[in-house]
Amino acid sequence: MAILVCGGAGYIGSHMAAYLKEQGEEVVILDNLQKGHKAAVEALDGKLYIGDLRNRSILDKVFTENKIDSVIDFAADSLVGESMTDPLKYFENNVGSTISLLSAMKDHNVKYIVFSSTAATYGEPESIPIVESDKTVPTNPYGESKLSVEKVLKWCDTAYGIKYTALRYFNAAGAHISGKIGEDHNPESHLIPIILQVALGKREKIMIFGDDYNTEDGSCVRDYVHVTDLASAHLFALQRLKNGGESAIYNLGNGKGFSVKEVVEVTRKVTGREIKAEVAERRAGDPAILIASSERAKKELGWKPQYDSLETIIETAWNWHKNHPDGYQ
Ligand code: UFG
Repeated sequence: MAILVCGGAGYIGSHMAAYLKEQGEEVVILDNLQKGHKAAVEALDGKLYIGDLRNRSILDKVFTENKIDSVIDFAADSLVGESMTDPLKYFENNVGSTISLLSAMKDHNVKYIVFSSTAATYGEPESIPIVESDKTVPTNPYGESKLSVEKVLKWCDTAYGIKYTALRYFNAAGAHISGKIGEDHNPESHLIPIILQVALGKREKIMIFGDDYNTEDGSCVRDYVHVTDLASAHLFALQRLKNGGESAIYNLGNGKGFSVKEVVEVTRKVTGREIKAEVAERRAGDPAILIASSERAKKELGWKPQYDSLETIIETAWNWHKNHPDGYQ
């Protein structure tokens, strides 16, 4: 039986597909290639269908032509800032796509889904580390769209018996250990790839968005988690569902926070390059500190991150960026 990876040509989805193949699983990828890269699928020798989840006929084709028993869904828009100015795009795509997918799963009798959710479902945290039972009050449409899907999933379980796991990631980072696939967004907005572009001489400096937060050095603190560790958690989650586990929600992070300034410093060490940094205005909507408690995932899924030091995460990202300065181009 095969696992369908929706959004499998994107950053996290391609690492998921690579991991599944390494574990001996049969994988089918569906991606509209709006953000994803065909070259990523080629690099991992994946089977690709090009199409949009909102197009029911492509879903029927994929489910008919392959023996699929489960789905992992990454297909989404994920820029917090853009979601503030174009919320309808986020609800139409992020909620609309997964509804279309669930409807096809129902009709084709596919009973298991692992859904890519986010720390942005919590909004401004009430306490640190964040646990799954904390309040979910998203401060942007991106987080709201993912939370909306979590609610849809719950009712699809009740009505159709589709079992789900929603995984709320903190800051996905790093690249595949082989260096063959990695992060390539256009435009890039994430901290580590931007710092590495400075290291490569493709940008002059890194702007540190705010140093007047209530944190030790004044810059924002985040919980960086390696993309392959995220992938392994998805497979554990799927296996648990297939073994009769109930639907559930888990945080995924390393439980350790690093400030923006610390990330810049560690990147200087890892790359041995001078990296110019300058403090700038705060970026709207950034919470000061986001750190996960992933105790539930560790206990119930048996998940154990392998690349849990920031140095290792940045080393793997550097290995990718150094060898692919223009990404997949
Ligand atoms: N930052 C800078 N300079 C930059 C880019 C980022 O200082 O040039 C800072 C940000 O202000 C933030 C930290 O670096 O404090 C990390 O920023 P990222 O954009 O890399 O990641 P975010 O924490 O904003 O976002 C991540 C995911 C989102 C998800 C969010 C959940 O990328 O998809 O966590 O809160 F929604």
